[in-house]
Amino acid sequence: EKGGFPHFMLKEIFEQVYSIRDTIRGRVNLEASEIFLGGISEMLPKLLQADRIIIVGCGTSWHAGLVGEYLLEELAGIPVEVEYASEFRYRNPIIREKDIVLAISQSGETADTLAAVRLAKEKGATVLGICNVVGSGIARETDAGVYTHAGPEIGVASTKAFTAQIAVLTMLALSIGHKKGLLSDEKYRNYIQELYHLPNKINEILKKDEEIQQLTLLLKDCPNAIYLGRGCQYPVALEGALKLKEISYIHAEGYPAAEMKHGPIALIDEKMPVFVIATRDTYYEKIVSNIKEVESRKGNVIALINPGDEIVKDIAQQTIEIPDTLESLSPLLTVIPLQLISYHIAVLRGCNVDMPRNLAKSVTVE
Ligand code: F6R
Repeated sequence: EKGGFPHFMLKEIFEQVYSIRDTIRGRVNLEASEIFLGGISEMLPKLLQADRIIIVGCGTSWHAGLVGEYLLEELAGIPVEVEYASEFRYRNPIIREKDIVLAISQSGETADTLAAVRLAKEKGATVLGICNVVGSGIARETDAGVYTHAGPEIGVASTKAFTAQIAVLTMLALSIGHKKGLLSDEKYRNYIQELYHLPNKINEILKKDEEIQQLTLLLKDCPNAIYLGRGCQYPVALEGALKLKEISYIHAEGYPAAEMKHGPIALIDEKMPVFVIATRDTYYEKIVSNIKEVESRKGNVIALINPGDEIVKDIAQQTIEIPDTLESLSPLLTVIPLQLISYHIAVLRGCNVDMPRNLAKSVTVE
Protein backbone atom coordinates (compact mmCIF):
# COMPACT_ATOMS: atom_id res chain seq x y z
CA GLU A 1 0.00 0.00 0.00
CA LYS A 2 2.97 2.30 0.52
CA GLY A 3 4.24 1.34 -2.92
CA GLY A 4 7.68 0.34 -1.64
CA PHE A 5 8.18 3.55 0.36
CA PRO A 6 8.80 3.33 4.13
CA HIS A 7 6.12 5.93 4.87
CA PHE A 8 3.03 7.36 3.23
CA MET A 9 4.50 10.83 3.53
CA LEU A 10 7.51 9.96 1.37
CA LYS A 11 5.29 8.15 -1.12
CA GLU A 12 3.05 11.21 -1.32
CA ILE A 13 5.99 13.58 -1.77
CA PHE A 14 7.18 11.45 -4.69
CA GLU A 15 3.65 11.21 -6.09
CA GLN A 16 3.62 14.94 -6.75
CA VAL A 17 4.92 14.30 -10.26
CA TYR A 18 1.62 12.54 -10.97
CA SER A 19 -0.79 14.40 -8.70
CA ILE A 20 -0.02 17.71 -10.38
CA ARG A 21 -0.29 16.07 -13.78
CA ASP A 22 -3.67 14.61 -12.77
CA THR A 23 -4.85 17.95 -11.43
CA ILE A 24 -4.11 19.77 -14.68
CA ARG A 25 -5.09 16.91 -17.00
CA GLY A 26 -8.24 17.63 -19.00
CA ARG A 27 -8.09 21.24 -17.81
CA VAL A 28 -4.96 22.54 -19.46
CA ASN A 29 -5.00 22.11 -23.21
CA LEU A 30 -1.47 22.50 -24.50
CA GLU A 31 -2.27 22.53 -28.22
CA ALA A 32 -5.08 25.04 -27.98
CA SER A 33 -3.33 27.01 -25.21
CA GLU A 34 -6.49 27.01 -23.16
CA ILE A 35 -7.52 26.30 -19.59
CA PHE A 36 -10.98 25.01 -18.82
CA LEU A 37 -12.18 24.52 -15.25
CA GLY A 38 -15.50 22.73 -15.72
CA GLY A 39 -16.53 22.91 -12.08
CA ILE A 40 -16.66 26.69 -12.06
CA SER A 41 -17.31 27.54 -15.72
CA GLU A 42 -20.74 28.89 -14.86
CA MET A 43 -19.20 31.15 -12.25
CA LEU A 44 -16.76 32.74 -14.68
CA PRO A 45 -18.85 35.87 -15.30
CA LYS A 46 -18.94 36.46 -11.54
CA LEU A 47 -15.22 35.85 -11.20
CA LEU A 48 -14.46 38.24 -14.03
CA GLN A 49 -16.43 40.94 -12.26
CA ALA A 50 -15.38 40.16 -8.73
CA ASP A 51 -14.29 43.12 -6.62
CA ARG A 52 -12.47 40.87 -4.23
CA ILE A 53 -11.82 37.23 -3.41
CA ILE A 54 -11.64 36.20 0.23
CA ILE A 55 -9.80 32.91 0.63
CA VAL A 56 -10.45 30.90 3.78
CA GLY A 57 -8.69 27.78 5.03
CA CYS A 58 -6.62 26.33 7.86
CA GLY A 59 -3.03 25.14 8.20
CA THR A 60 -1.40 24.07 4.97
CA SER A 61 -4.53 24.96 2.98
CA TRP A 62 -4.26 28.49 4.36
CA HIS A 63 -0.66 28.59 3.10
CA ALA A 64 -1.89 27.54 -0.35
CA GLY A 65 -4.34 30.44 -0.06
CA LEU A 66 -1.46 32.85 0.53
CA VAL A 67 0.23 31.62 -2.64
CA GLY A 68 -3.17 32.05 -4.31
CA GLU A 69 -3.31 35.67 -3.15
CA TYR A 70 -0.06 36.36 -4.92
CA LEU A 71 -1.19 34.50 -8.09
CA LEU A 72 -4.65 36.06 -8.32
CA GLU A 73 -3.42 39.58 -7.72
CA GLU A 74 -0.42 39.25 -10.03
CA LEU A 75 -2.03 37.37 -12.91
CA ALA A 76 -5.77 38.02 -12.60
CA GLY A 77 -5.76 41.53 -11.11
CA ILE A 78 -8.25 40.69 -8.37
CA PRO A 79 -7.66 41.98 -4.82
CA VAL A 80 -7.43 39.02 -2.45
CA GLU A 81 -7.61 38.59 1.28
CA VAL A 82 -6.60 35.36 2.94
CA GLU A 83 -8.07 34.49 6.30
CA TYR A 84 -7.84 31.70 8.78
CA ALA A 85 -11.29 30.15 8.61
CA SER A 86 -11.43 30.15 12.40
CA GLU A 87 -10.91 33.93 12.55
CA PHE A 88 -13.21 34.73 9.67
CA ARG A 89 -16.14 32.79 11.08
CA TYR A 90 -16.10 34.31 14.55
CA ARG A 91 -15.80 37.90 13.37
CA ASN A 92 -18.54 39.74 11.64
CA PRO A 93 -16.73 39.87 8.29
CA ILE A 94 -17.79 42.49 5.79
CA ILE A 95 -18.89 40.79 2.62
CA ARG A 96 -20.09 42.85 -0.33
CA GLU A 97 -22.17 41.84 -3.29
CA LYS A 98 -19.28 41.34 -5.68
CA ASP A 99 -17.07 39.47 -3.23
CA ILE A 100 -16.35 35.82 -3.76
CA VAL A 101 -15.39 33.56 -0.90
CA LEU A 102 -13.09 30.68 -1.83
CA ALA A 103 -12.65 27.86 0.69
CA ILE A 104 -9.60 25.61 0.39
CA SER A 105 -9.55 22.23 2.12
CA GLN A 106 -7.94 18.89 1.43
CA SER A 107 -10.39 16.86 3.50
CA GLY A 108 -13.37 19.08 2.81
CA GLU A 109 -14.44 18.39 6.40
CA THR A 110 -12.45 20.88 8.49
CA ALA A 111 -15.01 22.25 10.95
CA ASP A 112 -13.84 25.87 10.92
CA THR A 113 -13.63 26.02 7.13
CA LEU A 114 -17.09 24.48 6.76
CA ALA A 115 -18.48 27.01 9.25
CA ALA A 116 -16.82 29.84 7.28
CA VAL A 117 -18.51 28.56 4.11
CA ARG A 118 -21.90 28.55 5.85
CA LEU A 119 -21.39 32.06 7.21
CA ALA A 120 -20.33 33.42 3.82
CA LYS A 121 -23.45 31.89 2.24
CA GLU A 122 -25.66 33.38 4.91
CA LYS A 123 -24.17 36.75 4.10
CA GLY A 124 -25.02 36.30 0.45
CA ALA A 125 -21.56 35.69 -0.98
CA THR A 126 -20.84 33.43 -3.91
CA VAL A 127 -18.88 30.60 -2.34
CA LEU A 128 -16.42 28.44 -4.23
CA GLY A 129 -14.34 25.50 -3.04
CA ILE A 130 -11.07 23.80 -3.79
CA CYS A 131 -11.27 20.36 -2.16
CA ASN A 132 -9.53 17.05 -2.59
CA VAL A 133 -12.09 14.67 -1.14
CA VAL A 134 -14.97 14.20 -3.55
CA GLY A 135 -18.42 14.66 -2.05
CA SER A 136 -17.02 16.06 1.22
CA GLY A 137 -18.99 18.57 3.30
CA ILE A 138 -17.29 21.68 1.90
CA ALA A 139 -17.53 20.35 -1.67
CA ARG A 140 -21.27 19.83 -1.17
CA GLU A 141 -22.02 23.13 0.50
CA THR A 142 -20.15 25.48 -1.83
CA ASP A 143 -21.93 26.91 -4.89
CA ALA A 144 -19.30 25.49 -7.22
CA GLY A 145 -15.72 24.33 -7.08
CA VAL A 146 -12.70 22.67 -8.54
CA TYR A 147 -11.40 19.37 -7.22
CA THR A 148 -7.70 18.78 -6.75
CA HIS A 149 -7.03 15.37 -8.21
CA ALA A 150 -4.25 14.56 -5.77
CA GLY A 151 -5.68 11.16 -4.83
CA PRO A 152 -6.06 10.01 -1.21
CA GLU A 153 -3.59 11.69 1.14
CA ILE A 154 -2.90 9.36 4.05
CA GLY A 155 0.11 10.97 5.75
CA VAL A 156 -1.12 13.47 8.31
CA ALA A 157 1.30 16.11 7.04
CA SER A 158 -0.16 17.52 3.86
CA THR A 159 2.17 17.43 0.85
CA LYS A 160 0.65 16.51 -2.48
CA ALA A 161 -2.66 18.17 -1.59
CA PHE A 162 -0.81 21.46 -1.08
CA THR A 163 0.82 21.44 -4.50
CA ALA A 164 -2.44 20.33 -6.14
CA GLN A 165 -4.23 23.27 -4.48
CA ILE A 166 -1.60 25.64 -5.86
CA ALA A 167 -1.93 24.05 -9.30
CA VAL A 168 -5.69 24.77 -9.24
CA LEU A 169 -5.13 28.35 -8.03
CA THR A 170 -2.58 28.84 -10.82
CA MET A 171 -5.02 27.62 -13.48
CA LEU A 172 -7.73 29.83 -12.02
CA ALA A 173 -5.53 32.93 -11.98
CA LEU A 174 -4.19 32.31 -15.47
CA SER A 175 -7.60 31.75 -17.05
CA ILE A 176 -9.13 34.83 -15.41
CA GLY A 177 -6.09 36.94 -16.27
CA HIS A 178 -6.26 35.89 -19.90
CA LYS A 179 -10.01 36.42 -20.19
CA LYS A 180 -9.65 39.87 -18.67
CA GLY A 181 -6.96 40.71 -21.20
CA LEU A 182 -4.30 41.14 -18.54
CA LEU A 183 -2.23 38.32 -19.99
CA SER A 184 -1.37 38.45 -23.68
CA ASP A 185 -1.91 35.29 -25.74
CA GLU A 186 1.82 34.83 -25.82
CA LYS A 187 2.30 35.13 -22.08
CA TYR A 188 -0.67 32.84 -21.48
CA ARG A 189 0.78 30.23 -23.82
CA ASN A 190 4.12 30.52 -22.11
CA TYR A 191 2.62 29.94 -18.65
CA ILE A 192 0.53 27.03 -19.89
CA GLN A 193 3.54 25.32 -21.42
CA GLU A 194 5.63 25.84 -18.34
CA LEU A 195 2.88 24.57 -16.04
CA TYR A 196 2.42 21.53 -18.24
CA HIS A 197 6.09 20.62 -18.03
CA LEU A 198 6.48 21.40 -14.33
CA PRO A 199 6.03 17.76 -13.20
CA ASN A 200 9.27 16.90 -15.06
CA LYS A 201 11.07 19.54 -13.04
CA ILE A 202 9.60 18.12 -9.82
CA ASN A 203 11.03 14.82 -10.91
CA GLU A 204 14.47 16.42 -11.25
CA ILE A 205 14.23 17.70 -7.68
CA LEU A 206 13.15 14.30 -6.38
CA LYS A 207 16.32 12.80 -7.88
CA LYS A 208 18.24 14.86 -5.34
CA ASP A 209 16.57 13.08 -2.46
CA GLU A 210 19.77 11.39 -1.33
CA GLU A 211 21.74 14.62 -1.42
CA ILE A 212 19.00 16.27 0.63
CA GLN A 213 18.97 13.41 3.11
CA GLN A 214 22.75 13.80 3.58
CA LEU A 215 22.31 17.45 4.35
CA THR A 216 19.79 16.72 7.09
CA LEU A 217 22.33 14.63 9.05
CA LEU A 218 23.83 17.90 10.24
CA LEU A 219 20.49 19.39 11.16
CA LYS A 220 18.64 16.72 13.05
CA ASP A 221 19.64 17.89 16.51
CA CYS A 222 18.84 21.55 16.15
CA PRO A 223 16.20 22.79 18.61
CA ASN A 224 15.01 25.61 16.34
CA ALA A 225 14.93 26.57 12.68
CA ILE A 226 14.00 29.60 10.62
CA TYR A 227 12.58 29.69 7.10
CA LEU A 228 12.79 32.82 4.97
CA GLY A 229 11.24 33.79 1.66
CA ARG A 230 9.89 36.87 -0.08
CA GLY A 231 6.93 37.40 -2.39
CA CYS A 232 5.29 34.12 -3.37
CA GLN A 233 8.09 32.28 -1.55
CA TYR A 234 7.04 33.71 1.80
CA PRO A 235 4.09 31.30 2.13
CA VAL A 236 6.45 28.50 1.07
CA ALA A 237 8.68 29.48 3.99
CA LEU A 238 5.66 29.25 6.31
CA GLU A 239 4.80 25.85 4.90
CA GLY A 240 8.39 24.61 5.28
CA ALA A 241 8.34 25.63 8.95
CA LEU A 242 4.95 24.00 9.56
CA LYS A 243 6.11 20.73 7.97
CA LEU A 244 9.19 20.66 10.19
CA LYS A 245 7.39 21.40 13.44
CA GLU A 246 4.49 19.04 12.93
CA ILE A 247 6.47 15.91 12.16
CA SER A 248 9.88 16.42 13.80
CA TYR A 249 8.73 18.52 16.80
CA ILE A 250 11.51 21.02 16.13
CA HIS A 251 10.40 24.57 16.79
CA ALA A 252 10.41 26.38 13.46
CA GLU A 253 9.27 29.78 12.26
CA GLY A 254 8.65 31.08 8.77
CA TYR A 255 9.18 34.78 8.09
CA PRO A 256 9.15 37.19 5.20
CA ALA A 257 12.91 37.68 4.89
CA ALA A 258 12.74 41.46 5.30
CA GLU A 259 11.04 41.07 8.69
CA MET A 260 14.19 39.49 10.12
CA LYS A 261 15.66 42.81 11.14
CA HIS A 262 12.51 43.67 13.10
CA GLY A 263 13.12 41.04 15.74
CA PRO A 264 13.85 37.47 14.71
CA ILE A 265 17.46 38.27 13.81
CA ALA A 266 18.12 38.31 17.56
CA LEU A 267 17.69 34.55 17.48
CA ILE A 268 20.52 33.93 15.06
CA ASP A 269 23.66 32.21 16.30
CA GLU A 270 25.88 29.40 15.04
CA LYS A 271 23.34 26.79 16.12
CA MET A 272 20.47 28.23 14.09
CA PRO A 273 19.71 26.69 10.68
CA VAL A 274 18.15 29.27 8.37
CA PHE A 275 16.48 27.94 5.24
CA VAL A 276 16.34 30.67 2.61
CA ILE A 277 14.45 30.47 -0.66
CA ALA A 278 16.81 32.40 -2.89
CA THR A 279 15.66 31.63 -6.42
CA ARG A 280 16.54 34.23 -9.08
CA ASP A 281 13.37 36.32 -9.11
CA THR A 282 12.24 39.90 -8.54
CA TYR A 283 13.54 39.72 -4.97
CA TYR A 284 16.85 38.08 -5.68
CA GLU A 285 19.14 40.96 -4.76
CA LYS A 286 17.21 41.66 -1.60
CA ILE A 287 17.34 38.06 -0.51
CA VAL A 288 21.10 37.95 -1.12
CA SER A 289 21.50 40.81 1.37
CA ASN A 290 19.25 38.95 3.82
CA ILE A 291 21.54 35.92 3.53
CA LYS A 292 24.55 38.14 4.24
CA GLU A 293 22.81 39.51 7.34
CA VAL A 294 22.30 35.98 8.65
CA GLU A 295 25.80 34.82 7.73
CA SER A 296 27.45 37.76 9.45
CA ARG A 297 25.73 36.63 12.64
CA LYS A 298 27.09 33.12 12.12
CA GLY A 299 23.74 31.56 11.22
CA ASN A 300 23.83 28.35 9.19
CA VAL A 301 22.22 29.22 5.85
CA ILE A 302 20.79 26.47 3.68
CA ALA A 303 19.66 28.16 0.48
CA LEU A 304 17.43 26.99 -2.36
CA ILE A 305 18.95 28.42 -5.53
CA ASN A 306 18.65 28.25 -9.29
CA PRO A 307 21.37 26.42 -11.23
CA GLY A 308 24.66 28.25 -11.58
CA ASP A 309 24.10 30.76 -8.81
CA GLU A 310 27.70 31.24 -7.71
CA ILE A 311 26.86 34.32 -5.66
CA VAL A 312 24.68 32.50 -3.15
CA LYS A 313 26.86 29.38 -3.32
CA ASP A 314 29.72 31.51 -2.11
CA ILE A 315 27.96 32.92 0.93
CA ALA A 316 25.59 30.13 2.02
CA GLN A 317 26.81 27.10 3.96
CA GLN A 318 24.76 24.70 1.86
CA THR A 319 22.72 25.03 -1.31
CA ILE A 320 20.10 22.94 -3.10
CA GLU A 321 19.50 23.60 -6.79
CA ILE A 322 15.96 24.03 -8.10
CA PRO A 323 15.29 24.08 -11.86
CA ASP A 324 14.49 27.47 -13.39
CA THR A 325 10.83 28.29 -13.99
CA LEU A 326 8.53 31.30 -14.19
CA GLU A 327 8.48 33.21 -10.92
CA SER A 328 4.76 32.70 -10.26
CA LEU A 329 5.06 28.94 -10.72
CA SER A 330 8.13 28.44 -8.58
CA PRO A 331 6.35 27.69 -5.24
CA LEU A 332 5.38 24.37 -6.82
CA LEU A 333 9.08 23.54 -7.01
CA THR A 334 10.61 25.19 -3.96
CA VAL A 335 8.30 23.46 -1.50
CA ILE A 336 9.46 19.98 -2.59
CA PRO A 337 12.95 20.04 -1.01
CA LEU A 338 11.48 21.57 2.14
CA GLN A 339 9.04 18.65 2.40
CA LEU A 340 11.93 16.19 1.95
CA ILE A 341 14.05 17.98 4.55
CA SER A 342 11.28 17.75 7.16
CA TYR A 343 10.66 14.13 6.33
CA HIS A 344 14.30 13.08 6.68
CA ILE A 345 14.88 15.06 9.86
CA ALA A 346 11.78 13.49 11.43
CA VAL A 347 12.88 9.99 10.44
CA LEU A 348 16.38 10.60 11.85
CA ARG A 349 14.80 11.72 15.11
CA GLY A 350 12.75 8.52 15.27
CA CYS A 351 9.41 10.30 14.96
CA ASN A 352 6.21 8.71 13.76
CA VAL A 353 6.18 10.56 10.46
CA ASP A 354 2.79 9.48 9.17
CA MET A 355 0.98 9.96 12.47
CA PRO A 356 2.60 12.77 14.43
CA ARG A 357 1.55 13.17 18.04
CA ASN A 358 -1.53 15.25 18.85
CA LEU A 359 -2.58 15.60 15.21
CA ALA A 360 -5.44 14.18 13.18
CA LYS A 361 -5.82 14.08 9.43
CA SER A 362 -9.13 15.81 9.46
CA VAL A 363 -9.87 18.39 12.13
CA THR A 364 -13.59 18.19 12.71
CA VAL A 365 -13.44 19.75 16.17
CA GLU A 366 -13.74 23.51 16.62
C1 F6R B 1 -0.58 20.32 7.82
C2 F6R B 1 -1.94 19.86 7.85
C3 F6R B 1 -3.00 20.74 8.45
C4 F6R B 1 -4.16 20.87 7.46
C5 F6R B 1 -5.33 21.64 8.09
C6 F6R B 1 -6.44 21.88 7.10
O1 F6R B 1 0.27 19.41 7.23
O2 F6R B 1 -2.23 18.80 7.38
O3 F6R B 1 -2.48 21.99 8.79
O4 F6R B 1 -3.67 21.52 6.32
O5 F6R B 1 -5.81 20.94 9.19
O6 F6R B 1 -6.96 20.68 6.61
P1 F6R B 1 -7.88 20.63 5.34
O7 F6R B 1 -7.06 21.04 4.18
O8 F6R B 1 -8.32 19.19 5.24
O9 F6R B 1 -9.02 21.56 5.56
